[in-house]
Amino acid sequence: MTTTDVPTHRLNDGHDLPAIGFGTYPLSGDDGIAAIVSAIEVGYRLLDTAVNYGNEEAVGEAVRRSGVPREELTICSKIPGRHHGYDDAVASTKESLQRLGLDHLDLHLIHWPNPSQGRYAEAWRALVDLQREGLVRSIGVSNFTAEHLRHVIDETGVTPAVNQLELHPYFPQEQMRATHRELGIVTESWSPLGKRQAPFAEPPVAEAAERHGVEPGQVILRWQVQLGAVPIPKSATPQRQRDNLDVFGFELTDDEVAAITALGRPDGRLFGGDPDTHEEM
Ligand SMILES: NC(=O)c1ccc[n+]([C@@H]2O[C@H](COP(=O)([O-])OP(=O)(O)OC[C@H]3O[C@@H](n4cnc5c(N)ncnc54)[C@H](OP(=O)(O)O)[C@@H]3O)[C@@H](O)[C@H]2O)c1
Repeated sequence: MTTTDVPTHRLNDGHDLPAIGFGTYPLSGDDGIAAIVSAIEVGYRLLDTAVNYGNEEAVGEAVRRSGVPREELTICSKIPGRHHGYDDAVASTKESLQRLGLDHLDLHLIHWPNPSQGRYAEAWRALVDLQREGLVRSIGVSNFTAEHLRHVIDETGVTPAVNQLELHPYFPQEQMRATHRELGIVTESWSPLGKRQAPFAEPPVAEAAERHGVEPGQVILRWQVQLGAVPIPKSATPQRQRDNLDVFGFELTDDEVAAITALGRPDGRLFGGDPDTHEEM
């Protein structure tokens, strides 16, 4: 697998986003830096971090150690809930850049809407201005509902390029994916494998793995790709990093995709809580 084999999505601002990325939480310290360097060497070009992961320095250090030209990498960070005021969001972004040792972010997201604070539209306005100033290339959100999306679009006339959501076979987000298609937003999937409850042994996953001669994790990530979502799997293990990236050489049938999507269940949400009520500081 070479990086040139990884396709890209064209975002609504004209920039491109790799069709798969690397999740960096909770990688930090020397081991974390080594794992992130390994991911870049294996071929990942999209790295996902956040202020709240406490590892922006490690990500920046891994980027420098990798030797891969900066312009080949897409670095994404996120503004935490405690920085939603306009000035706080601008300061937060500059601090992220400082920790990463970069002069711009390629993608910057609002981590959670935190609706009880009611300030996410202010943070969005700050991102719109930061993009105009060139400190951030593409701007987006995370854990936003359709209502939150429409609110920021109505307030600014600018549609997020990306909404990063919990999405895996137990929680396939059919409604939000339809909303994103309608609004021209790319879906990114966090906990794309399902993390601790990864459905590797579920028959639609295990049987497809057998038929295609691949690992169950690869089937799930290929399912993500065929849904049009951008998964950002995390692995500290080089072999798994390689397997997780190697999902562009086979194709699931429509029936296989549908059978995996049908694993979705009402209690499928694993970690995030409901964006309408959950608050992340
Ligand atoms: N926006 C948000 O609110 C939000 C919330 C949560 C996460 N995220 C982002 O999403 C990224 C990914 O989510 P996640 O880490 O929760 O879940 P995940 O990527 O679905 O799962 C990671 C876990 O699966 C294991 N794993 C990875 N590849 C595997 C494979 N091929 N076979 C078996 N096990 C495998 C990893 O262990 P090893 O490391 O030992 O391989 C790790 O324990 C995070 O790193 C973070 O960047 C965003």
